[in-house]
Amino acid sequence: MSETRAQWKSKFGFILAASGSAIGLGNIVFFPANAYKYGGGAFYLPYFIALFLVGIPVMILEFGLGAWAKKSFPLAMRQAGGKAGEFAGWFAILNAAFITLYYVTILGWVVGMAGEALANPVNEIFMGKTKLAWGAGMQIPNPAGTFFAMISTWLPMAGVLFVWLLNGLLVSKGTKTIEAAVKIFVPLMWLTMIILIVRGVTLPGGMDGVSYLFSPDLNVLGRMDVWKGAMSQMFFTLSLGFGVMTAYASYLPKKSDHSHNAFTTSLLNCGFEWIAGVAIFSMLFALSIQPKASTLSMMFFIVPQGIAKLPMGAQAFAIGFFFLLLIAGLTSSISLVEALVAAMQDKFKLSRAKTLAFFGILGFLGSAAFALPKVIDPGLGSNGTLGLTLLDLMDHWAFSYGLLIVGLVECLVIGWGIGSHRIRDFINQNSKFHLGRWFDVLIKFLIPLLLAVILLMNIVQGEVLGGLYGSSAVTNYVPKGGILSSLPVIILFVWLLGTLGLAFLLTRAKGVDEVDAVCSEEGGMQ
Ligand code: TRP
Repeated sequence: MSETRAQWKSKFGFILAASGSAIGLGNIVFFPANAYKYGGGAFYLPYFIALFLVGIPVMILEFGLGAWAKKSFPLAMRQAGGKAGEFAGWFAILNAAFITLYYVTILGWVVGMAGEALANPVNEIFMGKTKLAWGAGMQIPNPAGTFFAMISTWLPMAGVLFVWLLNGLLVSKGTKTIEAAVKIFVPLMWLTMIILIVRGVTLPGGMDGVSYLFSPDLNVLGRMDVWKGAMSQMFFTLSLGFGVMTAYASYLPKKSDHSHNAFTTSLLNCGFEWIAGVAIFSMLFALSIQPKASTLSMMFFIVPQGIAKLPMGAQAFAIGFFFLLLIAGLTSSISLVEALVAAMQDKFKLSRAKTLAFFGILGFLGSAAFALPKVIDPGLGSNGTLGLTLLDLMDHWAFSYGLLIVGLVECLVIGWGIGSHRIRDFINQNSKFHLGRWFDVLIKFLIPLLLAVILLMNIVQGEVLGGLYGSSAVTNYVPKGGILSSLPVIILFVWLLGTLGLAFLLTRAKGVDEVDAVCSEEGGMQ
């Protein structure tokens, strides 16, 4: 195949795209929510260790792999570790696809909330003054009223459709459209965040929140769930285990400095995360609002409630906040769409437009399932919303297990397959920062060991349903009787079949390269 692979126009464009993928909802709301949940400053130590011991090395590995193989994740993994590698690669992409489905649903809700904030005075709708438009008898804390009233209608479906259309548009010409989008969105994200942080810390009492966030409570360090939280947060926030970073790096010239790129991307991401923490904690403390741990509530009622209380410009801040969430989320979701489409194209040489249309429609249908409004089932636990219940259940598998499994397997496949020293030598050829032997030790032994311990603990510590991100009470949502009580099992099967089953089929399918190889062996083609 003589067709040349697309390339980023500049290193800067690549850094914007990779950091745009990394910076998303994870940075703006999940990080502050986790930091609060795990004891403010105490979260930092496990978090830093996770960053330097696991995050940055795996980022270097994923970048190196993409540039070395010049292929997106599944085929790059095949080059590194044969068929087992390819299988793991497809598993990663499909698992990430499930995350993307509900990630887009959340973005659809963001669009809905932005619409509410545009149409109504925020001091009414985010302060718990709204009357719920629907069924009485639901025990919902007041500030949440607007959110629950909205998601219990069909309206968010329009939001979800809108977000999928944007995704399709921004990925339509691959690196070209992605680079154009991130050049606008990523700087805009930083700008909006800087405005929020200035607002937060200049509120009287705002600095108390900052000192809470940065003052360590060392007591929680012995708690394994804090370490687990830090590790999962790291994978998610850096977009590792999604196959995304490998796909993006495959569009770089081989001679780039991949270690430097990995450091820059990781530090930009974490820098954004810290200032987001400062912005949100200062505002909530100044306005004496408890930053509750659940991430969805953070995003949809706690921060909006804080914004509504701002002395000036609350309306503009509310709209700005939801706009920030939307663009930050979009620059993340497009990276997965690109990783998936690139993987299908690399393997089957399909047309981009058709592949994108196919997955766009499938994606919309999937996200629409998570946006399903309240079904009329009083048994459906506390939130009464079918989509949200499904989301909690899927998040539990794809996030708490899927990402860590991918991280574990990818280190093993590369470490012991072709050998991490091969990727290391490749990276070292053009890198100012020299990766020593320690890199192999991390990839082959230490990181897999850490991830395996966490996974085992997850399983052993009672495989009771209860996701990490705001879904710790999944079991409360699921009714005891009726068909709906089998939802946890159904979702587990959908996830297992959707990832393992499809990964198996895709690995077995003959790719174009293999067909070429057979043809040329038989004296056909070239
Ligand atoms: N890193 C993103 C965040 O912090 C999450 C993410 C990465 C993601 N890649 C993605 C979400 C692809 C959906 C699809 O929010």
